[in-house]
Amino acid sequence: ARDPLVLGIESTCDETGFALVRGRELLVDVTASSMDEHARFGGIVPEVASRAHLEAFVPTLTEALARAGLELGDVDAVAVASGPGLVGSLTVGTAGAKALAVALGVPLYGVNHVVGHAAVDELVDGPFPERLLALVVSGGHSSLLLVNDIATDVVELGQTLDDAAGEAFDKVGRLLGLPYPGGPHVDRLAREGDPDAIPFPRGLSKGRELQRHPYDFSFSGLKTAVARYLEAHEDSGEPYSRADVAASFSEAVADVLVTKTLRAARLHEVGTVVIGGGFSANSRLRELAAERFAEAGIELRIPPIRYCTDNGAMIAALGSALVRAGVAPSPLDLAVDSQMPL
Ligand code: KG4
Ligand code: ZN
Repeated sequence: ARDPLVLGIESTCDETGFALVRGRELLVDVTASSMDEHARFGGIVPEVASRAHLEAFVPTLTEALARAGLELGDVDAVAVASGPGLVGSLTVGTAGAKALAVALGVPLYGVNHVVGHAAVDELVDGPFPERLLALVVSGGHSSLLLVNDIATDVVELGQTLDDAAGEAFDKVGRLLGLPYPGGPHVDRLAREGDPDAIPFPRGLSKGRELQRHPYDFSFSGLKTAVARYLEAHEDSGEPYSRADVAASFSEAVADVLVTKTLRAARLHEVGTVVIGGGFSANSRLRELAAERFAEAGIELRIPPIRYCTDNGAMIAALGSALVRAGVAPSPLDLAVDSQMPL
C-alpha cells in the first residue's frame, strides 16, 4: 500500500512553512518568512510573528497544494510543530492544524520542532542507520540528540545552558557593529581573520565543568570575553583586528560543538552525525566537522541549507515517521509547549 500523504506545518518562530511528504518522499515545501519585519527591531517581535503567521497561513498552504498539483482532500494526516517556540506563533499553526484535521477527518500529530530538524535529513540523504547523533544548532537551539529511532526514541544528551550558537553570533555581530541578524556577517568577516589570534574560552570543556556537563554548551561566557576584549582595546586605543576577533570567536564556537559531538559519537559508538538548524550554514563549523569526522571515520550528513532553516518539510518528515511507526495521533485538545522537552 502507498504511504499516507502527510501535511507538515511549521510556525514555531518567524517562518510559516507547509510541506507534503509521502513516506520519505518530499512532494513540495513552501516557506513564508516575517524576518524582514523583525530586522529593524534587532530581534524577533513575538506579536509581529504571530500576526504574520495568521496572514500567511492560508496563502502558503494554498500555494503548496497548487505546486504539488494536489488538493486538501488528498491529505491523510496533519503534523504540526507544537513546540518548542513562541507561544503565539505555535498557537496560530496548531489551531490551523486542528481545524484542518477536524474538517478533513484525518489524524493530527503534534511534533517536536527540534527533532524535526534531524528528521528532515531522511528526505535528502535516505533512511537513517540504526543509531545516529544529531547536532541541532540555530538562533533558538543548540542541542545534541542521540537518535535511536526518529519516531519513538530520541534522547537529548545535552543542550545550551544559556545562548544558542546562532544567538551568540548575533550578539557578537552587534558588538562588532554588524547588521541583524549578525551570524552570516560575522562568518564572512571571520574568513579574513586568524582563528588562532585570540585564545577565547571554550565553555564547559575542562575539568569539573566538563564532567558535570559533558554534552551541554555555554556560549555566554565566550560572548562576554569578546565584549571585554573589544572594550579593553577601545579604551586603551591599542589597535586590533575585527576579522581576528570574528575568526577566533567562530573557532571557539565550532571547536566546542565539534569536540563534544565527536566525544558523544565515540562513547555511543555512532557512525553517523546529522547537523541541522540554520547555524549549520556556518562555514567554520562545516569545515571543522568535515575534517574531524572524516578523521574519525564518521559519516557526516548536512541537509541543504533550505532544509536546515525552519521549514515545513522537517515537520512533515517527522510526522511521516510517526505514521509509519504506528504512533498514536495527538488528542484534538493538543496544547502548545514553548519549552517542549523531547
Ligand atoms: O534556524 P534559523 O534560520 O532560525 C532559528 O530558528 O533560529 O537560524 C538562524 C540563526 C541566526 O542566529 C543566524 O544569525 C545564524 O543562525 N546563522 C549563522 C550563519 N547563518 C545563519 N551564524 C553563523 N554563521 C552563519 N553562516
Ligand atoms: Zn528551528
